[in-house]
Amino acid sequence: MATRSPIINVMIKAADRAARGLKRDFGEVEQLQVSPKGPSDFVSTADIKAERAVREELVKARPTYGLLMEESGVTPGTDGQHRWIVDPLDGTTNFLHGLPHFCISIALERAGEVVAGVILDPIRDDLYWAERGIGAYLNGRRIRVSSRRNLGEALLATGIPFQEHGDHSAFAAELSAVMPKVAGVRRFGAAALDLAYVASGRYEGFWESGLQPWDMAAGILLVREAGGYVTEIGGGENMLDSGSVLAANDQLHGTIQRLLTSSEPWKRPRAQP
Ligand code: IPD
Ligand code: CA
Ligand code: CA
Repeated sequence: MATRSPIINVMIKAADRAARGLKRDFGEVEQLQVSPKGPSDFVSTADIKAERAVREELVKARPTYGLLMEESGVTPGTDGQHRWIVDPLDGTTNFLHGLPHFCISIALERAGEVVAGVILDPIRDDLYWAERGIGAYLNGRRIRVSSRRNLGEALLATGIPFQEHGDHSAFAAELSAVMPKVAGVRRFGAAALDLAYVASGRYEGFWESGLQPWDMAAGILLVREAGGYVTEIGGGENMLDSGSVLAANDQLHGTIQRLLTSSEPWKRPRAQP
């Protein structure tokens, strides 16, 4: 059992508070599927309430830190060094459809570098956390990326562009390059959990374009602290700015990257997400 630092405890407390509300609201959403209006407004409110709960806990514990939150945007801090990066509900489309796969993601950046991350899956009660230089943990146990080195045995996950989002033909070409070579490709719909699953060895790799910093910040640290590699799909290191991410175990990252970038769209300029 790892000893948790005070900062990780602050993050877990904030995630836990949001999780309690989301779990309650998720029960309602399942009922609302059959109502003619559907659960959209209810889910937006649940999302905003979750963000408010996280914000209150973080600000109470560290009043001088800045915030970057999906719903409320940027709140500058007064200490100039620290910034929380928060997605209060990652996997909104799943939540909206009554699919029990979503999470809360909280990262802490210090001087522009992510130093701590917490991802909480309230339905499975899975708590992932990582701290720079200390390791990555799931429910108190150290986690490692998988050790599979054979691409033919690899299970990958991805994010599929959707209505009015992303470069659909570029994604189709990446998928065509990858799918004949691997054991399977999944689309679970919560990028933060996708990264947590790479960190805990459930899948060998995950790639997606068009993400936001709050989708990735905590998960990238988890994968790195679990011994995996994370870059942009094209190989650069500016994932939080570009929205492009490829996370994989140390054995297969290079192979998957070569495969993705061998697809035709990588040879021409890409459309912006
Ligand atoms: C989304 C999820 C999804 C990814 C989308 C994200 P949200 O976040 O992470 O897996 O494919 O690009 O926007 O909207 O559920 O917080
Ligand atoms: Ca998200
Ligand atoms: Ca969200």
